[in-house]
Amino acid sequence: MPEIKFYKNTPVPLELHRVEIVKQLSLLPVKERLTKMKEAGFNTFKLHNGDIFMDMLTDSGVNAMSNKQLAAMMQPDDAYAGSETFFRMQDKLNEIFGISRCLPAHQGRACENILATRFVKPGNCVIMNYHFTTAKAHVTRNGGHVEELVKDEGLKTESDLPFKGDMDLDKLKACIKKEGADNISFLRMEAGTNLIGGQPVSLKNFRDVTKIAKEHGILTVLDASLLQDNLFFNKTREAECKNMTIREITRAIADCFDIVYFSARKFGLARGGAILVRDEDLFHSMEDLVPMFEGFLTYGGMSIREMEAMTVGFDECMEMDVISQAPQFIKWCVDELVDYGVPMVTPAGGLGAHINAMEFVKHIPQEEYPAGALVCALYICGGIRGMERGTLSEEREPDGSERFASVELVRLAMPRRVFTLSQVSYVADRVKWLFDHREMIGGLRFTHEPATLRFFTGRLEATSDWPEKLAKAFEKDFGKDC
Ligand code: F0G
Repeated sequence: MPEIKFYKNTPVPLELHRVEIVKQLSLLPVKERLTKMKEAGFNTFKLHNGDIFMDMLTDSGVNAMSNKQLAAMMQPDDAYAGSETFFRMQDKLNEIFGISRCLPAHQGRACENILATRFVKPGNCVIMNYHFTTAKAHVTRNGGHVEELVKDEGLKTESDLPFKGDMDLDKLKACIKKEGADNISFLRMEAGTNLIGGQPVSLKNFRDVTKIAKEHGILTVLDASLLQDNLFFNKTREAECKNMTIREITRAIADCFDIVYFSARKFGLARGGAILVRDEDLFHSMEDLVPMFEGFLTYGGMSIREMEAMTVGFDECMEMDVISQAPQFIKWCVDELVDYGVPMVTPAGGLGAHINAMEFVKHIPQEEYPAGALVCALYICGGIRGMERGTLSEEREPDGSERFASVELVRLAMPRRVFTLSQVSYVADRVKWLFDHREMIGGLRFTHEPATLRFFTGRLEATSDWPEKLAKAFEKDFGKDC
């Protein structure tokens, strides 16, 4: 989807695919949405998908598959051991990343489990540009801690820095000095940094960071789950990459790392994951963990059909016409909302449009979860399911106090090839209404709070009757059926 010029009409992102299979959606009336939100304990993970109009919780495992992917699912080679499907997948990954050894795992966090189990010892440090929830949880579960060394500018919600996921090289050198290279399990760079708004990392930064790590003998790991968005931004924002193909950029990035892992729920447009390991000894040192946690070495807990779809999906992630759709839709949505005055994370990143909740509902203190409250309000007012990416997604400090997130975001993910621009326009419209009624939104408090990954399974309640009042105001403006 390159930017296609229009004659008279205002240019909009133009899809280079057409819809051949559809799924009917329904939009519950606002009163019912209020009831469903209460039943879900003010946790959007607990909503039933049938009660949702626009599911923008995530782009994970919910991207639309292509006709070629579906066709590939009809030719799997089912076998417990030695499946030809696995070898096809391994060959494709080698062709793209230039790494021949592949350990399959059922999804991204399963790869993280294997990496942390193998490399993280109690007291160890893992360096990251920024953490991802599951990546960090596996490190801490093994007794390690995470140091996040993203540039300060990366945490500024509004910016025009093109690569806000870049790591700060001075912070990196200081951290290696402080922790000691021997105490660092590995350095993990996340392409398309999820929790700070899908912000990309430059090819230059990948090179500079891994060069320093290698000088100190530190193992380098790339989380390529969001690589396809990152590649789009390398190509469109980084001078060096302008004349490179997506495959060439991919290879240049992969060349920096000892290990590449990914969630194929994102990269590959299917459901699965894998760890690619350059060094033979390292590969063998992790091998036994795959049958222990996942499944045999040639399926790793994945459906063989998904592996076939994924193999086609990897090729599709190397096509500019495919990978540009989400970032362009996201930018369209972000521009619409910024024009209206809504505080958004800028520049628009990959993965989704991100609302800066700290600013949107600045009257809600962080201990009452501003992003969590805003995401619930958006479901009540639009049947739109987003995801809280703020303090609720953090874990408490060992002494039980809250660890306040550096940014409070509501993520409206843009699954690939799923939504039309009119649906995205509807979302922007409901966010605008909510922005004009933001004073009505109140806080949340836990009624059931699990110790780890509480955002997945916790239950909350409103701190007052604000949800009822908000629903009433919405009904007054839009009528009972909307
Ligand atoms: N790394 C990154 C950068 C991710 O975004 C995710 C998942 C994972 C690892 C874990 O992969 O889900 O297959 O186990 N992100 C999803 C999301 C959950 O909604 O952003 P997984």
